[in-house]
Amino acid sequence: MPSDSPRAVVPMTSKVPAPTGQTVPTTFYEAVGGEATFDRLVTAFYAQVADDPIMRPMYPEEDLAPAARRLKMFLEQYWGGPHTYSEERGHPRLRMRHAPFTIGVRERDAWLRCMRHAMDEVALPEEYDKAMWEYMERAADFMRNA
Ligand code: HEM
Repeated sequence: MPSDSPRAVVPMTSKVPAPTGQTVPTTFYEAVGGEATFDRLVTAFYAQVADDPIMRPMYPEEDLAPAARRLKMFLEQYWGGPHTYSEERGHPRLRMRHAPFTIGVRERDAWLRCMRHAMDEVALPEEYDKAMWEYMERAADFMRNA
């Protein structure tokens, strides 16, 4: 399903011929700039969440930093980066983990609005932006439970 399987969206490894002596990105994660990029994305996303009247009340913890870290670890793993998420949290089972929250169209759209702002700030090259945004739209819809 879209939330848990990287293979469902884009191949994580690209077969770019390696010119001698040059390091070539091998995963989506590396190609878009690795940890620094995911850090910027998630920081920008949670800055939106903090100000959003639909999103903010859904978060059980006062401090959004731990939630930001979990999202960052998950997205890094999904896009071919380190597997810290699963090492710390186990199988993502994202739908199950979202079950405590009522997620209808309104909440899905609020989440996506925050993410679109964040992705605009990070401004990935067009093809990467497109692949990531398609994933976000599908996964956010998959999280609906109301
Ligand atoms: C692309 C879609 C989404 C992804 C990839 C995603 C990812 C995540 C992850 C990784 C967690 C932490 C799970 C854990 O390990 O405990 C989480 C928590 C949460 N998500 Fe989402 N989510 C998505 C959509 C949504 C939507 C649409 C909503 C509601 C509007 C939502 C609201 C929440 C809330 C309230 C939490 C609890 C915060 C926390 O303690 O981590 N998420 N989400």
